[in-house]
Amino acid sequence: MPDDSRIKIAPSILAADFARLGEETAAAAAGGADYIHVDVMDGVFVPPITLGAQMIAAIKPHAAHVPLVVHMMVSAPERHVASMAAAGGDIIVVHAEAGGDPGGTLAAIRGSGARPGLAVKPDTPVEMIEPLLDGLAIALVMTVNPGYGGQPYMREVEGKITRLRSRIDARGLEVMLEVDGGINDETAARAARAGARILVAGTGVYGRAEPVAERIAALRRIAESALEPE
Ligand code: DX5
Ligand code: ZN
Repeated sequence: MPDDSRIKIAPSILAADFARLGEETAAAAAGGADYIHVDVMDGVFVPPITLGAQMIAAIKPHAAHVPLVVHMMVSAPERHVASMAAAGGDIIVVHAEAGGDPGGTLAAIRGSGARPGLAVKPDTPVEMIEPLLDGLAIALVMTVNPGYGGQPYMREVEGKITRLRSRIDARGLEVMLEVDGGINDETAARAARAGARILVAGTGVYGRAEPVAERIAALRRIAESALEPE
């Protein structure tokens, strides 16, 4: 299978058992996760508060060789870049809607030694991030409004995913196109067909009857088969 049709799975520990976060992270890392997705919420950019740099540092040793992607659903993310990188964030994804100067924040992420990512909410046009795609590790198109796990996938976002996929391909960029929100056995195939190559999944991976490794493998298999020619 060409690398372009290889789907990467990023379990979101937001849906894990927070009392056993080390074990739950390790299960994803040992179970074939390509990234560990860590949702940082500040109670301002989105209503809930989740976890911060201290928790990321505690999780880090359990993720083994798997990169930690810090999804920053916070206002003024530039204030937290250094601490998230120091705690072990390998890729730091900030929102285009977070205010301030997104280009400056991305530069600060690079300066911190982490790799930068940029996210858009479902209602934000992808044109907003197109000028900043060069050199990004991840472009994240949210398929739910950020803030909570377990929400339904918004099909209406697929047009944006497809548009961004064609922009990335036309410009020959290395940026990985990621989706986050409502990914399950049905929507994984749809998101992959629309052009996503990293699928974040919280409730699609954690808190299920099947082991975490089985869920990761199932989502990857479903999404990759959706890309195979008929
Ligand atoms: C939502 C978070 C997601 C969340 C996804 O705001 O950014 O990463 O954990 O959860 P599911 O996969 O359950 O929709
Ligand atoms: Zn997320």
